[in-house]
Amino acid sequence: MNEPVMQIRSIVKEFSGVRVLHKITLDIFAGEVLGVLGENGAGKSTLLKIISGIYTKTTGSIKVDGTEVSIQSASDAKRLGIAMIPQEFNLISSLNVFENIFLGNEIKNGFLLNKSAMRNRAYELLKDLETDLSPDALIENLSVAEKQMVEIAKALVNDSRILIMDEPTTVLTDHEVDIFFALVEKLKKRGVTIIFISHKLKEVKHLCDRLAILRDGHLVSVDDVTQINEEDMARKMVGRELNQIYPQRTEYSDEVVLKVSNLSIKGILQDINFDLKKGEVLGFAGLIGAGRTETAEAVMGLRKKDSGVVEINGKVVTINAIADAVACNLAYLSEDRQGKGLIMNFDIPKNITLISLASYVKGLIQHKKENSVARDYVKRFDIKAASLHSNLANLSGGNQQKVYLSKWMDTQPDILILDEPTRGIDVNTKKEIYHFIHSLTEQGVSVIVISSELEEVMGLSHRVMVMRSGQIMGELSGDAINEKEIMYYAAGLKTMAQA
Ligand SMILES: Nc1ncnc2c1ncn2[C@@H]1O[C@H](COP(=O)(O)OP(=O)(O)OP(=O)(O)O)[C@@H](O)[C@H]1O
Ligand SMILES: [Mg+2]
Repeated sequence: MNEPVMQIRSIVKEFSGVRVLHKITLDIFAGEVLGVLGENGAGKSTLLKIISGIYTKTTGSIKVDGTEVSIQSASDAKRLGIAMIPQEFNLISSLNVFENIFLGNEIKNGFLLNKSAMRNRAYELLKDLETDLSPDALIENLSVAEKQMVEIAKALVNDSRILIMDEPTTVLTDHEVDIFFALVEKLKKRGVTIIFISHKLKEVKHLCDRLAILRDGHLVSVDDVTQINEEDMARKMVGRELNQIYPQRTEYSDEVVLKVSNLSIKGILQDINFDLKKGEVLGFAGLIGAGRTETAEAVMGLRKKDSGVVEINGKVVTINAIADAVACNLAYLSEDRQGKGLIMNFDIPKNITLISLASYVKGLIQHKKENSVARDYVKRFDIKAASLHSNLANLSGGNQQKVYLSKWMDTQPDILILDEPTRGIDVNTKKEIYHFIHSLTEQGVSVIVISSELEEVMGLSHRVMVMRSGQIMGELSGDAINEKEIMYYAAGLKTMAQA
């Protein structure tokens, strides 16, 4: 191989005396795609944030092109051609696409902003990324996948030669992942080095040249991708064998606990009908924009319905707000945890009991009970944090997601709707969550799982509804729950009428 473009030597990182990276030494080569793997909290984001100037290292050194460099800030990194797309996006919702792309990098005419030059350049960049996204679209109206495109465009404005991406595909559907893969190939051909973090072992195997695996802040191995298979990856990440990711499916009853009839929202959902049985896991598959999240939001009272009846245990209920839904013992874990769920400057117990708070109040909030409940969730989902009282902002992305899940679990719902529940969660905890979902169903809880990871929908569900363009295209059960069938419906190649 050629000279390394970057040499990382003995990097140590401590947060208030707690060591989270232990002497990491790693070479990075020009034009390679390097995957970084590890469990939640292993130190992946921290390492890459040090390279990109978001965090400063405690000790150690970094060379770029053979010369020792000091990366103290994101602008230092930018000067060296290093850009990072964060795990949690950094866009300003009230601004439009091109304003965000050029934020801090504005093209000016003297003192004035040259808006048309920025708009044109943004248009070119987006076209190059093969997206239809308009430079004038407002960020707040964009989907997660579109926001990511803006982040990528923003990084490319600077002609970065080392592009660091923290779980870029976590928020994308299969189709979008394909586009993303093509984009990576393209950038690679231009000689751009890509370092990316992922929890999806299959895609890492497909996309990367080499894989670095971290465990508890140590670099466990760096392998050529041809030299390692998915089992090896999982084993190295977790430090032991990992078997049976998906639990045995439990029996469920015929009793209908939730029935949704003729649900429509103009321009979004068309005549949605489905039911959910006691103890059942009902999967919702489909591509982004198929209407799965919108369906869940309508059921939960987060979205106004134009028509539709919701029945719970055979009784028609009126749900016009989330509080109505919670009163019906419904819980919803939304796909966008950053926007709807967590309070970053609250600690773990306070976040977990955010909704279930009423059950902790006897005159005063019973902090002891709150803490002990939180401790149980920390144990069950292996939530890694310096302390129970760490602010959520200081937890790794995956660990934040686990807190989010705990929060909804703590409302002790009868019906639980999970929208992309394991996004950003490592393989070991995924397994814990899957088994936990099934243990809930054994206790009679009914669960709807919306997921863009086909494998997850197939592995968990008793039945699967496939949506496309705001409609339910098909319902699958038993052996019909397979990738081919789901894709046929999701792509519109097959409809219920033809089945
Ligand atoms: N700003 C911070 N203050 C204190 N601790 C932090 C901070 N940022 C990260 N940590 C801790 O450092 C450790 C590594 O976190 P990091 O975000 O690097 O994990 P990760 O491998 O990216 O995990 P994930 O897959 O969940 O994103 C965690 O224990 C985390 O709690
Ligand atoms: Mg991370």
